Amino acid sequence: PMADRKRSASGILRTSSQHTPITDAVAAAPYIVEEEVVKEFFTVAPSGLVQPEDTLDRVTQFVHDHVARGNRVVIITSGGTTVPLEKNTVRFLDNFSGGGRGSASVEYFIESGYAVIFLHRKNSLQPYQRHFMLLKDDQFLDYLQWDDNINSIKVQSDNQKIKTMLQRYHKAKSEHKLLKISFSTIHEYLYLLKEVSERIRVAKSAGLVYVAAAVSDFYLPSAKMVEHKIQSIKGPLDLTLDPVPKMLGALKHHWVPRAFVVSFKLETDYSILHYKATQSLERYGHHLVIGNLLQNYRNEVFLYDDAKSSEPTSRMTRSEEEMKSNADLEKEIIDQVVSRHTLHIELNQ
Ligand code: PMT
Repeated sequence: PMADRKRSASGILRTSSQHTPITDAVAAAPYIVEEEVVKEFFTVAPSGLVQPEDTLDRVTQFVHDHVARGNRVVIITSGGTTVPLEKNTVRFLDNFSGGGRGSASVEYFIESGYAVIFLHRKNSLQPYQRHFMLLKDDQFLDYLQWDDNINSIKVQSDNQKIKTMLQRYHKAKSEHKLLKISFSTIHEYLYLLKEVSERIRVAKSAGLVYVAAAVSDFYLPSAKMVEHKIQSIKGPLDLTLDPVPKMLGALKHHWVPRAFVVSFKLETDYSILHYKATQSLERYGHHLVIGNLLQNYRNEVFLYDDAKSSEPTSRMTRSEEEMKSNADLEKEIIDQVVSRHTLHIELNQ
C-alpha cells in the first residue's frame, strides 16, 4: 500500500495526491519550540480556564499518591479542541474527535494497573459511560424503569457487558484510579497539558503521555478577536489564523523528559501517513506514533517506532467478528503500549 509514495533522486517525497512535495530536510530537523514561544502563546491566547480552583492541586495529590504506591501514571488526552472566533464565543472552529479512542483507552490502561489522568473535551465520550452512549438500538433510558412500589428506579438489564462495565467502573472509582479534567479551547488544552505533564514528572520513567486528542493547528490570538458576536450584515467573513506552536517537542524534552510518549497521527490520505508519522518520531522524539486514517480509524491503526524504516512497525486491525461484536481495537493498542512502556522503564531505571 505504500507503493504510491515515490521518492525522487533529489530526496523529495512525492505523494500520489495533490499534496505539496515535502522535503527530507524538513523531516529530519528536530523541532523543540522555544520556551519564549510557549510563553508568548499563553500571553496572546490566555487559557480562560473554567476549572475548579483546586484542579492542579488535585493532580499533584493524585500523582503523589500513586507514585508512592508504585503505580504507573498516564495522561490521556481525548476529543477535539475548539478555536473561539469571538471573546464572547458564539462561533468556534472544531476538530474531528468524539473521544472514543481516548475514553476506551482509559479503561484498558486502568485494567493494566495504571492511574489515569483523563484530559478530555467537555461533553465528549467518557470511559465506562461510553458503553451506554453507543448503544445501537436501545437508549440509555430504556435500561431504567420507575418502580412505584419502591419509589425508586429499577435497572432493567441482563446485558453481561454492561454488568462487567459497571463492576470495572466501581472498582476504578473505589481505587481512585481515574482523575478527569475537561477542556474546550485550544488555549485551555495546551495550558492544561503543560501543567499536568509537569506534575507527572515525579513519576520519572513510570510516567506515560498518550495524546489522542485532535488539536487545532491554527488559532485566533486574542488581539485579533472581536468582543461580541460577529455580525453577518458586514458581508463575507475573512479569517486569518495564526499557527499554533507545535508543543510536542517541548512536551517530550522539557515538560516530561523521562516519560514514555505516545502520540497519534490522523490523516485522510494513506500515501502521506507514513511520512507524517515518522516525521513526528524524528522531530519530536516521541517513542511511539500511532497512525490512523479518518475513513477507518476504528478498525485499523499503524504503529511507528522507527523513523528510518520505510514501513510501519506493525499494523492492527479489527476482524469482521470483532466489528460485529463491537470489540475495541484499543485493547490490543494498549497491550502494545504497556509492553513498550515496561521496556522503557527497565532501560531508564
Ligand atoms: O475520538 P475519536 O472520534 O475516537 O477519534 C480518535 C482520533 C482519530 C482523533 C485519534 O485516533 C487521533 O488520530 N488523534 C490525533 C489527531 C491528530 O492527528 O491530531 P494532530 O495532527 O492535530 O496532532 C498530532 C499529535 O500532536 C496529536 O497527538 C496531538 O494531540 C498533538 N498536537 C498537535 C498540535 C499541537 N499544536 N500540539 C499537539 O500536542
